[in-house]
Amino acid sequence: MAKRTQVVIVGAGPSGLLLGCLLDRAGIDNIIVERQTKDHVLARIRAGILEQTSVDLLTSAGAGARLAAEGIAHHAVNIAFDHKLVSVPLGATTNGKVVTAYGQTEVTLDLYNLRAAGGSQTIYSAGNVEIHDFDRDWPFIRFVNNGKAEEIACDLIAGCDGYHGVCRASIPDNAITTYGQVYPFGWLGLLADTPPVSTEVIYANNDRGFALCSMRSMTRSRYYIQCNPADNIERWSDDAFWDELRRRLPPETAEQLITGPSLEKSIAPLRSFVAEPMHFGRLLLAGDAAHVVPPTGAKGLNLAFSDIYYLHQAIESFFANNDIAALPHYSQQALARVWKTERFSWYLTNLTHRFNADPFEQKMKEAELDYITASPAGRLMMAENYVGLPL
Ligand code: APR
Ligand code: PHB
Repeated sequence: MAKRTQVVIVGAGPSGLLLGCLLDRAGIDNIIVERQTKDHVLARIRAGILEQTSVDLLTSAGAGARLAAEGIAHHAVNIAFDHKLVSVPLGATTNGKVVTAYGQTEVTLDLYNLRAAGGSQTIYSAGNVEIHDFDRDWPFIRFVNNGKAEEIACDLIAGCDGYHGVCRASIPDNAITTYGQVYPFGWLGLLADTPPVSTEVIYANNDRGFALCSMRSMTRSRYYIQCNPADNIERWSDDAFWDELRRRLPPETAEQLITGPSLEKSIAPLRSFVAEPMHFGRLLLAGDAAHVVPPTGAKGLNLAFSDIYYLHQAIESFFANNDIAALPHYSQQALARVWKTERFSWYLTNLTHRFNADPFEQKMKEAELDYITASPAGRLMMAENYVGLPL
């Protein structure tokens, strides 16, 4: 007889792992199937800024201890433009809400360890994952485990399998609408064991292109520069990266930059993408499976976690009250926040990058940057979005 669980979660990225941990706490059986190996999933390097709601959610899931000890609170965000560096305060205008610097790699490890301690099953290296009958009352998945075909029957399937996953792709085309755009530039990122140049993140709009200074700890820095998405990473030596970064920062910041050998260097494309609805029958999409934001503003992980906040509530209501309406309701609730966060990520990307040589557009951007850093209303808009809109 096929194995059975209440919820199959496809994907062991941050979305799938957090959902699994929250369902465990609610006493709802779940199994995660993940295409990659555990080591591959735990080695991925991504953004590192958590909204307070993400911190609270990780804490309520039981994965907040190391974050509380090692996360670094940021009380401001810096914007560099027109040869100056301006600090926008966060907590002062948002009832004390701030953001916390803590890498997604660490978040994933903490969730992995929590799940491992709880004993719920995660099947890594699952081949050819297929989802079936999610438009009926008896969904199941089929996959290859250690060379053998397996099936797991369930009540619900959570599609937490990222942008390239199988879940969204399995929904009939006429039941889902997708929106999005690909930006004509990428980000070249570098991680190094050097002290960060600034105690808080700097977003720089410069003639030579965008640059970002971030951190993982007081001894580990993360920097990015806007680049051609088709660039060959081999052509970017560490020295070339540091030289270009220095040129894009205000001189007094550039002078303080401490460089060192890269631990990792990679180029990522930038896209905005939303699929709606995020629900089809007994399949529920969450995180990158349903939407992607460009990394400007560091919303990807946070948006995935707000989905999981709504989703775990919907799943609990579904099982506690036999409430099938909780499933479409999840999609509506999640999308309302998704679109606003998509807007902010798109806005901040357009505002801070150089990709259109039109001098008028650049003047408009400079005026807008001046407005959001100098006017109390502008600063409030920036701070309220940066710390994360309420759930
Ligand atoms: N079967 C099983 N697992 C799959 C499949 C599949 N067919 N396809 C993809 N996966 C796995 C991937 O290997 C990955 O581990 O699903 C996981 C999806 O993880 P993420 O892409 O990290 O997406 P998510 O968990 O929603 O996290 C969102 O992480 O990717 C960043 O920028 C993103 O910060 C955002 C956050
Ligand atoms: C990061 O720390 O990797 C980071 C920070 C802010 C961003 C994006 C990425 O907007």
